[in-house]
Amino acid sequence: MGKNSDDDGYMALFESEQGKGRLKHRVCATSILIAICLVWIYRVSNIPETGVEGRFGWIALFVAEIWFTFYWLLTQLLRSYCVYRYPFKHRLSIRHEDELPKVDIFVCTADPEIEPPLMVINTVLSVMAYDYPPDKLSIFLSDDAGSILTFHALYEASLFSKHWLPYCRNYHVEPTSPAAYFTTTTTTTTHSLHSNHFQSIKNLYEEMSNRIETSTASGRIPQEIIDMHKGFSKWNNHQSSYTSKQDHDTILQILIDGRNKELRDVQGYQLPTLVYLARQKTTTHPHHFKAGAMNALLRVSAELSNAPIILNVDCDMYSNNSASIRDALCLLMDQVQSQDIAFVQFPQSFDNVDQNDMYAARFQVINQVELPGLDGVGGPLYIGTGCFHRREILEGLKYSKEYKIKWKAQNTSTAANGTLEELEERAKTLASSTYELNSQWGKQVGLKYGCPVEDVITGLAIQCRGWKSAYLNPERSSFLGKAGTTLEDTLVQHKRWSEGDLQIMITHCPFWYGRNKISFALQLGYSHYCFWAVNSLPTLCYSTIPSLYLLRGIPLFPHLSSIWFYPFAYIIILNYTYSLFEFLSCKGTIPQWWNEQRIWLYKRTSSYLFALIDTIFKLLGFSDMKFVITNKVTDDQVFQRYQNGIMEFGVPSPMFTVLTTLALINMFALLIFVTKLVIGDQNRVVVIKSLSLQILLCGVLIIINYPLFEALYIRKDKGKIPRSVGIKATFLGVLACALFLS
Ligand SMILES: *[C@@H]1O[C@H](CO)[C@@H](O)[C@H](O)[C@H]1NC(C)=O
Repeated sequence: MGKNSDDDGYMALFESEQGKGRLKHRVCATSILIAICLVWIYRVSNIPETGVEGRFGWIALFVAEIWFTFYWLLTQLLRSYCVYRYPFKHRLSIRHEDELPKVDIFVCTADPEIEPPLMVINTVLSVMAYDYPPDKLSIFLSDDAGSILTFHALYEASLFSKHWLPYCRNYHVEPTSPAAYFTTTTTTTTHSLHSNHFQSIKNLYEEMSNRIETSTASGRIPQEIIDMHKGFSKWNNHQSSYTSKQDHDTILQILIDGRNKELRDVQGYQLPTLVYLARQKTTTHPHHFKAGAMNALLRVSAELSNAPIILNVDCDMYSNNSASIRDALCLLMDQVQSQDIAFVQFPQSFDNVDQNDMYAARFQVINQVELPGLDGVGGPLYIGTGCFHRREILEGLKYSKEYKIKWKAQNTSTAANGTLEELEERAKTLASSTYELNSQWGKQVGLKYGCPVEDVITGLAIQCRGWKSAYLNPERSSFLGKAGTTLEDTLVQHKRWSEGDLQIMITHCPFWYGRNKISFALQLGYSHYCFWAVNSLPTLCYSTIPSLYLLRGIPLFPHLSSIWFYPFAYIIILNYTYSLFEFLSCKGTIPQWWNEQRIWLYKRTSSYLFALIDTIFKLLGFSDMKFVITNKVTDDQVFQRYQNGIMEFGVPSPMFTVLTTLALINMFALLIFVTKLVIGDQNRVVVIKSLSLQILLCGVLIIINYPLFEALYIRKDKGKIPRSVGIKATFLGVLACALFLS
């Protein structure tokens, strides 16, 4: 490629490659499309003449098929534009080492009980240890709980970092999260000096984690620690305005002031800036959750360091690769290709996923096919963590052709001055709860408010201002978080996502909002996610109607010997073969694929369904209607079961009632059907041949629900399906079958 170097010494900092196998995919997709057309023709030309119920089932399935076709086209679209990016870090060092931009890192936490302070500071320490000039790094922890426990942990981390960062630098430690490092590395086999250091740093870490865990468990900080830093007085002092987590003044503490050249780690190197921020909370002003926290961080960091690049990570997502900043900068600093790239998104990956990925948390296909597909048509979504932004653009800058960043100028222009206290005072006012009144924050400036998926909608708004984004998914995961370890966590998470995405479809419909601003393909790409929730209804139709119709022996699919049978068979076989091979090519395994099919069904018939219902209720004005209760249980037994691949039900969630009812409907239907077949006097072969696809579908639905039946009838542990859920579901299942039989 001639683009890689030219006469004025331009060397591309990254390369983009189109996905392989586009032709194969297109041939495959086209043939399936032809088969789908045949199915439509079959549906239209064979509507049952007699019998209301036969016609009803027929039309319901046809409508579901029309939707599936539309949605299938959306998924195929993404697959035919995949683009993969490869950064060249060494070129970045050669050309830009002296003008590397400052980077501000935002870590957001909101609840010391769900997000333990020790986990939070492990994330903080991992990003402090990036392979990057420390004087150009600032880390901001936003604590929306305003918890003294989190502050204490961060204070401990600021002391520990003076030992940890030199250790990481000397021994090229990976990953740089101490907790992750000490669980993967138990001894060092290298020279004895390293072993000595290893032991001493490990002891230091353990002492620190003991102090943090003791204070977290007791909810109290020992007096001798309180005396060590003035910051603690914000909570304990009688004059302080801290009353509760919903009502307190801004608490801003610069724990490490990177400007202070005297402040050094134990080896005499500078340290990155470290700031604790609990923005002001009052009961009279909305705080807008994470989007509000991010916007407060944007303003405060602008005052303190004003770095042109911002990385934001969730507090459970530690850095697993100390070179990620450099990777991302390759995509943002290329003189030619980067001019319109607003942000670089890394995938969400998890380090606690069980072998067979029972809850389909690895997102292999999303991460390795769909997001690169979006990248090919204008850029991936902003998914709220593991994302590098350009500050100006996040703050609202519109794209223009003349836009060119001068990295050198950006670095020298903005050194904050004043004493530490002055600086803290100035920055504090920026995080007050009234600051945003009558301003464009949350609308045109910063992250957008009013949507449960503030990140996705902000990304869409940025792209609608003319920018693109890029996706980077290196072999080794750059960020690792914790996936949900119960079925309920997984389903609730997906409910929140699909509900937020559907809300985007309603308030900022990509087709209308993005008209003439983003490519049509990208609008379709967004719809693929925004329509998640809508999939629930057709999937419900397909997983109940064909089985219930078995009870009356009414065929809804072609006879086994009919010519119309072939398009159906073709679609089923090719689609699942393709899906399996795609999954395997994304480094998945067959058991993982099978589990993913189950979670696919569960998400669609519970998470998405509840998201859809909640959204409809909201539209009708019943905004208080809440269907889902989150119940956070994290005990050892639950974790044990998770590791052994045993599905966790345990709580009486209404989502489980739906799933169990569906499973039971299919089981009852098949049992009754088989009984009737055995005792009846019809021609069995004819019956089976005319109902073959329904029997197949019903059978597969039963087999895929095996773990659920086990949890309903066999298991005795606490994770089985609660009796109340079992009773309700049995009642509903019997009722549905009885109605159809009568
Ligand atoms: C995390 O980083 C380590 C190296 O420190 C690597 O061995 C491991 O594979 C990475 N994890 C993932 C999930 O990529």
